[in-house]
Parts: sequence; structure tokens; C-alpha cells
Amino acid sequence: MSEFKTLRGMRDLLPEEARMMIFIQDTARRVARLYGYKEIITPVVETYELLAAKAGDEVRSRMFAFKDLGGRDVALRPEFTASVARLVATTFKNEAKPFRIFCLGSVYRYDEPQRGRHREFWQSDYELIGASRPEADAEILILTDRLMREAGLKDVAMKIGHVGVIRGILSQEGVDDREQNAVMQLMDKKEYGSAISLAEKSGISEKCVKVLEQLVQCKGNSVFEVIDRMKELAKDYGKSLESVENLKQILDLVTGNDDVINVSVDAGFARGLEYYTGMVFEMFIPTLDIALGGGGRYDKLVELFGGESTPAVGVAHGLDRVLLGLQNQKMTPKAEGRKTVFVFPIKEEQRAHALRISKLLRDAGIMVEDEVMGRKMTKALEDADRRKMDYAIIVGERELKEESVVIRDLKKRQQHTVKIDQLLNELRT
Ligand code: HAM
Repeated sequence: MSEFKTLRGMRDLLPEEARMMIFIQDTARRVARLYGYKEIITPVVETYELLAAKAGDEVRSRMFAFKDLGGRDVALRPEFTASVARLVATTFKNEAKPFRIFCLGSVYRYDEPQRGRHREFWQSDYELIGASRPEADAEILILTDRLMREAGLKDVAMKIGHVGVIRGILSQEGVDDREQNAVMQLMDKKEYGSAISLAEKSGISEKCVKVLEQLVQCKGNSVFEVIDRMKELAKDYGKSLESVENLKQILDLVTGNDDVINVSVDAGFARGLEYYTGMVFEMFIPTLDIALGGGGRYDKLVELFGGESTPAVGVAHGLDRVLLGLQNQKMTPKAEGRKTVFVFPIKEEQRAHALRISKLLRDAGIMVEDEVMGRKMTKALEDADRRKMDYAIIVGERELKEESVVIRDLKKRQQHTVKIDQLLNELRT
């Protein structure tokens, strides 16, 4: 039989990476709690129809989709937003708004594997349901910035756009939703020339072509200058202008925050998922050219799933990329500073006593490893030393008679006898 390997695009996280991943997940959960987001757990497998509805061609074509044994068309979730919108349209339909939901788990896309791009990856997903005001968009942006900083990343930057700016223009020019989606997909790939040609084929005016050509060039860190330029370009397109104004209000809130968030505006910025109706954004750090997270406003999705018209805004953070970013920036979360103890019975007769001592230590929250290999003391202690454990507790007949054990400091290579009822005190000091 040939050697088994993980599937292409799938990977194992070994202890050190797994520890970092769990640290990032703990940080995501802590930030969720800080902002009042309640965690829910949704299924990995959902109906294809739900997941595909507004995923956009790119994500749709990369779904792990199959028929289950009951003949249903199903898929592994490529993201959480569709599942949350399903709940908001059904189980949570009478929930008071605003309503804050948090999900964390693995998601699946048949992407071409490369650095930071896997077929199974982890997201933390925050959805703020029921609020249409710019404060809600700003909350998602500020929360994302906080998460990235608390995870330990440096020089985090955000790129912000608003799909309403270009869609507003296309709508006024009579381009239907389906054609608009195709244009936005090309914009997402930064194929602006092809995007504008496609819009031309849908019958937009010459003036509109000029406006779009200039709009997609509008970007930069002087966000309010970019906004003024966008206003000027969109001045004849009412809905588009409203979108620029909405973007400005969001930026006012984000840049007025105490923690100055590094933002840039990009008028031609679109995202692969089709459900966005307003502000869209992505996060970056200097050493990685792929987004560490992204999201935006989607005011029509809940309605599409049969619920009431419900405004919503959210974000998903790519936790594998946060991990990669931390590795790039040489930021390793501190290991728990806890003591580790190895408990060794000298003879078989002391095994039960040794287990009782282990229990005593574990009850006090100390990490204990028991001897399970039946080794001689020298070998077992050498191994505990090699694995950088702090102490060995040696349980022997003579000491037990005096309610004592030997405690050996593996780092200092010193040992002495200690009463069992003093053991915890000794380890704590
Ligand atoms: P998304 O931009 O498709 O948005 O994914 C969010 C993040 O997941 C990306 O920014 C990236 O960090 C990570 N990611 C995406 N694909 C991969 C991959 N193949 N390997 C590793 N990481 C990846 C969403 O999923 C939306 N549901 C976000 C959202 C929530 N919008 C509103 N609410």
C-alpha cells in the first residue's frame, strides 16, 4: 500500500501551529464577547441551493458539492453568512433587533492551493443583523481591527469600497442585476477594462463609460479627498451619490475612533460574493498580498431566503491567514507559563499511589504526565528532561511510609523529599 497523505489543499496543524490557531480562535471568541456577539454552531453540510444562492460564480464553482445517500444536493459550507441568513429568515425571525451572531469553524472551497490558500480553512464570522445605519458598518470595521491587533498582528490596513457606487450607476443606465453581477465579478478580479467593456455591451452611455473609467482609478489613503472625487464623478447618478455619502459617514466614524485605523478607499473595489449591497472591505498586512479577512453589508439576503426585509452587515476573518501573518511577523503567542510535572512510581506496588498523587496535582490545575511505558527511572527521567518538563515526582516505598515523595527539579537537577500534604505548596512556590 502506498503511503497515505492528506488530500491536496488539506493540511494537518501539528502541536505548535495548532496552539497558535487555538490562541487566535480564543482571541476571536473574546472579541465576539466584548462586542456582544452570541456564538452559534451551524452544520458543515447544508443544501446546495442555500449555499449557492448568492455566493457568486467564483465561490459557487469551487464548492465541495455532492449528492448525499438520500439523493439530496448538498455541499460543505464555503462560508457562514448563508447559514446565518437562513436562521434569521426562520428560527430567529422574531428576534429583537439589533441581533449579533458569531460563528467559528472550518469552511471549504476548492481553491487552487498556494501559500495562505487552502481547501479547508478556518473563519471567525460576525454578523450584525437589523441595523442599516453607518454605526453598524463601523462596528464591524472597528471590531475587525481590534481582533487583528489582539491576535498580535502589526501594521494592519483596511481597504474599503461600496458596491452601491458602481451598481447605482449601472442601474440608472438600465443594466439588469444579472449583468451587473457579471461586471462586479470582473471588477473583483481587477479586470476593470473587461468589466467596463461588458457594461458597454449592456448598453451604457458613452458618458457612463468615462465616469466608470475614472471611478476605478479613484483610490488612496487620503480618504476624504478620494470621497470628494467620487462625489464629483457620481454627481449625476442619484443612488450612486447616496452610496458615496454613506461611505463617507462610515469613514467619519472609523477615522474618528481613538485607535487610528489605517484605511484606504478604493472606488472600484468589489468582492466575489454576490450578496453585497453596500460597504465592502478587506484587511491586509504588508508582508502578505492576500486578504486576512473581508466582509460588508448585505441588505437583501434574508429577504431572498424568505424572511422579512432585514439590513445586515458582517465580516469573516481567515484565521489560517492570521496565523500565517503572525508567523511572517515572527509573533508567537506566549506559551502558557504553567509548570509541568512527571509522576514516576519506582515499583509496580506504588502505581496506584502515583495515580492518586497525579490526581491531587491535576485537581489543582497542574499538568501531569504519568509513566505509561514501564521504564526504569533513569530512562524515564531522561525522557522527561528531554521533553522540557519542570519537575518529576518520584513515588517510592520508603518515602510513602512517611507520607512523602521525592520532588526533583529537572531544570536545576536538584531533589529533596517532601510531605505529600506540602507538595502543592512546594510546586506553587
Ligand atoms: P470571503 O472574503 O470570501 O468572505 O472570506 C473571508 C476570508 O476568508 C478571506 O478574507 C480570507 O482571509 C479567508 N479565505 C478565503 N478563502 C480562503 C482560502 N482558500 N484559504 C484560506 N483562507 C481563505 C466571506 O466568506 C463572507 N462570508 C464574509 C462576510 C460575512 N460578509 C458578510 N458577512
